[in-house]
Amino acid sequence: MTIHDSSLRIDAERLWRSLDELGSVGAYFDEDAGLHGVRRLALTDADIAGRELVTGWMRAAGLAVTTDRVGNIYARRAGADNAAAPVMVGSHIDSVATAGRFDGCLGVLGGLEVVRTLNDHGITTEHPIEVAIFTEEEGARFGTDMLGSAVAAGRIDLDAARARTDSAGVTVGSELDRHGLAGAVEVPIRSPHAYLECHIEQGPILSTGDTRIGVVQGVQAITWLELRITGRAAHAGATPQRLRRNAGLAAALITVRLDEMVESGEYGLLLATVGRQVNYPNLINIVPEKSLLTVDLRNPDGAAMARAEADLATCIAEVEKATGVTITSRVTAKTPPVAFPDSMRDLVEKHASNLGMSCERLTSGAGHDAGEIAALCPSGMIFVPGLYDGISHNPREYSTPEACADGIDVLLHAVLELAGSGNE
Ligand code: GLV
Ligand code: MN
Ligand code: MN
Repeated sequence: MTIHDSSLRIDAERLWRSLDELGSVGAYFDEDAGLHGVRRLALTDADIAGRELVTGWMRAAGLAVTTDRVGNIYARRAGADNAAAPVMVGSHIDSVATAGRFDGCLGVLGGLEVVRTLNDHGITTEHPIEVAIFTEEEGARFGTDMLGSAVAAGRIDLDAARARTDSAGVTVGSELDRHGLAGAVEVPIRSPHAYLECHIEQGPILSTGDTRIGVVQGVQAITWLELRITGRAAHAGATPQRLRRNAGLAAALITVRLDEMVESGEYGLLLATVGRQVNYPNLINIVPEKSLLTVDLRNPDGAAMARAEADLATCIAEVEKATGVTITSRVTAKTPPVAFPDSMRDLVEKHASNLGMSCERLTSGAGHDAGEIAALCPSGMIFVPGLYDGISHNPREYSTPEACADGIDVLLHAVLELAGSGNE
């Protein structure tokens, strides 16, 4: 079979079985959802078990598996020209604490399915193909997202990445060393020829419009902050209002103000989330002495994002004054809006159309490794719809076997065009 055969399709059942099997690694029963979810926080034993399962499949498919200094995995299928830069596909298999089985896994297992399909049909490409698994894409454990791909792309320095800690003070470096994951591949990595990532949309746009493929224009800006508020612990019954310096109240005021900023429409399509808030000493009859809160800001417009950040700083100063607390603010993640090149958008759109799939252009709400690798080479993304308004970071996350197969069929044909013919 030649690589331009448009009848070529992946094995949808094999892809689904792989998603299912990886989804059982780190599975937990979620009482609220009444179903099993996935918990594979980066570099935990569950994440390592997932990596071992997938790298076993990669080796069985004939791929040469290497690891870089920050534990990113690259599984290489040789091309006709092995001096040529590889076409890279991939994503992540680490998860948030309440995940489904698709976020990231579709991109990695879809990349593997592309390779398995090429193997089945004896197709050689000119460029090698590499399937990547990036470390700590979620940022859910070590506090900054796209950590592995940012190190691979040179945005985050390796030493800074290794020094990052989780909430228990465990460092990335010690976890990499504990699992023997600090590999030989130098970072930043050599630029791939191109990078493509298939992912579930994680939002409602595609499912609402019955569109089969999302052609991703780019990724919106992300800013993460950690605020530490210090007030004074005091007796809940005996301390009058005027003598309180209530850190919990200050946290609540900031949370409400963020919501008002979003609702005001003055910051474009700003979204703001306080995902973590911990009071100290966290007891019923003590005015909170301290509060830690995280702020996640998203905005497709970089200038509107900058305005929101400046106004949040003003709001923090006002809350300090009004409540008598002190607040320190630390930026833990910050990426600008990323636009994928037209060539990659057109490529995805062309192959979706060739395969008879309806498609729609959209900007990604979530952060992705593709946003980082875009600094190294032409990069793009393929989205597929999820059910239930595309809910994600929730065990209810679900994409159908057909939708997953659609995305990976488009990936297959786009990769074949990028990697070029080796046996014709
Ligand atoms: C990654 O899932 C993100 O937070 O966007
Ligand atoms: Mn993801
Ligand atoms: Mn995610």
